[in-house]
Amino acid sequence: MNLTQLRRQFPALMQQVAGKSPIFLDGPGGSQVPQPVLSAMSAYLGYYNSNLGGAFFSSEKTVELMADARQAAADLLNSPSRDQIVFGANMTSLTFSFSRAISRDWQAGDEIIVTNADHFSNVSSWQQAAEDKGVKVNTVLINEADCSLDLAHFASLLSTKTKLVAVTYASNTTGSINDIKRIVEMAHSVGALVYVDAVHYAPHELIDVQALDCDFLACSAYKFFGPHLGMVYAKREHLEGFTPYKVEPAKDVIPGRWETGTQSFEALAGLIAAVDYIADISELDGSYSRRDKLASAFAKTKQHEMALSEYFLTRLVNYPKIKLFGIDDLDRLAERTPTFALTFAGLEPRQVSEFLGKQHVCVWDGNFYAQGLCKQLGVLDTGGVVRIGCMHYNTIAELDKLFDLFDELI
Ligand SMILES: Cc1ncc(COP(=O)(O)O)c(C=O)c1O
Repeated sequence: MNLTQLRRQFPALMQQVAGKSPIFLDGPGGSQVPQPVLSAMSAYLGYYNSNLGGAFFSSEKTVELMADARQAAADLLNSPSRDQIVFGANMTSLTFSFSRAISRDWQAGDEIIVTNADHFSNVSSWQQAAEDKGVKVNTVLINEADCSLDLAHFASLLSTKTKLVAVTYASNTTGSINDIKRIVEMAHSVGALVYVDAVHYAPHELIDVQALDCDFLACSAYKFFGPHLGMVYAKREHLEGFTPYKVEPAKDVIPGRWETGTQSFEALAGLIAAVDYIADISELDGSYSRRDKLASAFAKTKQHEMALSEYFLTRLVNYPKIKLFGIDDLDRLAERTPTFALTFAGLEPRQVSEFLGKQHVCVWDGNFYAQGLCKQLGVLDTGGVVRIGCMHYNTIAELDKLFDLFDELI
């Protein structure tokens, strides 16, 4: 991967702030955006800004854009059809709307499962739907040693009463990746549906909804180099079978029956460019499909991200005052994203992020809405953790600067 060339595509990475190159280790909160995405959004707004269904060029262009955006998302997720991609404002809004529709036929005595590994968008939406129907909510714990999901606990909670399992593909706080294929198999064996939150996972690895056999999978383009936009893949039978809350005249055809109001067409233009940006990392020529290119690109970025993780974890061992929550085993790098949850002895997370922020090293502190996880780890009431979130555009040199600042701080 030609990192120098790749980084040049990102205006944010090339800028100087008060004479210094900023270091963006805030990716899990939202990644930086390459120029082709900015150009695509600006071109849509500048030349074609319109709506669907008009008898004129810019509206026709908008219809085409929407179809292209669905195809780009379908390629990214390996959806069998672009009609199985639903767009919306963000993952949270979409998940609330899906939770309303999916829970319509739940009854008292039914149960659902959420997890302590999840962002609360994939917890509260289901909890509130369950509350409305008198349905019991079971919560899977994490293994505190490595922050992986406790699958034995999950198995003990599953039963024929379970209607739905809501689970994250990877923790947005510790980076631990869950074995979704296995979780889906276990859930399906008792007839439960599975709603996967792939928001944190999506920028790091290739998703294959068909291989996972999940019922629903949600992600957000602003986490994978695109604009603020949410999307959900769902099995066709569910998009046709469940009934969404929807304005009357537009409620029959999928996937439109799941989309409310006017979409952010400029964001859809940005999404296409973001997917193409990732595909182009492969450097494969035009004879390959976009899906093939994405597979090759993610293989490259994963390798680089694993190298970043290895470097980070190897250096971190020399800092006894910093505690890591999550996988630290160098033989298990494939099971994590390069996202690191840390606490510093004698310092609050906010003090650390403020110190780094003053040097234009951007890191987040807090609980990142992973409240169950932070509670189980005992950090919810102490400011959460400091999150160092690497993306494929980050470099070893940036991590060196980060550790220099850790030295200064400690
Ligand atoms: C793992 C995870 N899930 C869900 C969300 C919510 O996504 P959105 O902001 O698109 O609603 C986030 C946002 O940070 C996240 O990190």
